[in-house]
Amino acid sequence: MTRKIIIDTDPGIDDAMAIFFALRSPELDVIGLTTIFGNVHTTLATTNALRLLEIANRSDIPVIKGADNPIAAEYEGPVPFVHGNDGQGNLDLPPPTSKALDTTAAEWIIEQIMTHPGKVTLVPIGPLTNIALALRLEPRIAENVQEVVLMGGNAVVPGNATPAAEANIHNDPEAADLVFGANWRVTMIGLDVTHRVNMTRADIARYAEVGSAMTNHVMRMLPVYQGYFEKAYGSDGIYVHDSSAVAYVIDPTLFRTESWSIRVETMGISRGKTWPSLGEVVLPPWQNRPRVNVAVDVDSPRLVALEHARMIE
Ligand code: RIB
Ligand code: CA
Repeated sequence: MTRKIIIDTDPGIDDAMAIFFALRSPELDVIGLTTIFGNVHTTLATTNALRLLEIANRSDIPVIKGADNPIAAEYEGPVPFVHGNDGQGNLDLPPPTSKALDTTAAEWIIEQIMTHPGKVTLVPIGPLTNIALALRLEPRIAENVQEVVLMGGNAVVPGNATPAAEANIHNDPEAADLVFGANWRVTMIGLDVTHRVNMTRADIARYAEVGSAMTNHVMRMLPVYQGYFEKAYGSDGIYVHDSSAVAYVIDPTLFRTESWSIRVETMGISRGKTWPSLGEVVLPPWQNRPRVNVAVDVDSPRLVALEHARMIE
């Protein structure tokens, strides 16, 4: 039985890899891509989502444009030094021929969840604005979604957007605090694990073995992304952020999780930091908040092997 998933995405190079990974996984039925700002503006994220589905020959899957700004602030802008000016490694790609649906991401997410109660898993791999807007518009999605498995946050490790905060949460902390505070099943795949899933240069080179449209696109995108990691972390490969969330949906045994309540800092220099309740004594800021399934350990070689198995072998 395949699992229906909606990927909410800001493509983004690692988003592209995660989307291809999901499309190549028989366990998953990607019913749509909703787009959000983050790595790039939402308009470009939407164009890139359409392009990626055309590369994968899956333009049967709908793309729905999401919000252009966070729920309580201005979008701080793209990160071309990580993902390139086009969000795809500066490939100067032709415009897509397909078009996004004429609705909003929040409304489409609600429609899908309420039409298929208990059967849709949300996989947000960008800022959580669309998810928060959908919750506000229709709170009943909380009891009708199967699960939310998100890439974002940092429980007990430093951030990557700032010393305090991870990029997806930092881009819309208010939205994230709403998402972590709703009464639904949420799994947080944060930097605590994604900064331990390293795809080495040798792992990346294997994508050249196949010569498919998707693996060719991955190979063309990655030099810009690898250059960022080399400069930022002295790394010879890349951290696997968004694909780690897809891997969790396919095989949760790749991870060890803790059940903590999560609050998100929205003020000052730590804006965007996800604070877990940690121990058994739950202090006031975390009281009356649901528990979140927070990933704290991961079998990195097995996760990389799974993504290779889907994309290359
Ligand atoms: O912090 C990593 C996250 O921020 C990933 O989703 C990456 O695509 C960027 O959006
Ligand atoms: Ca992303």
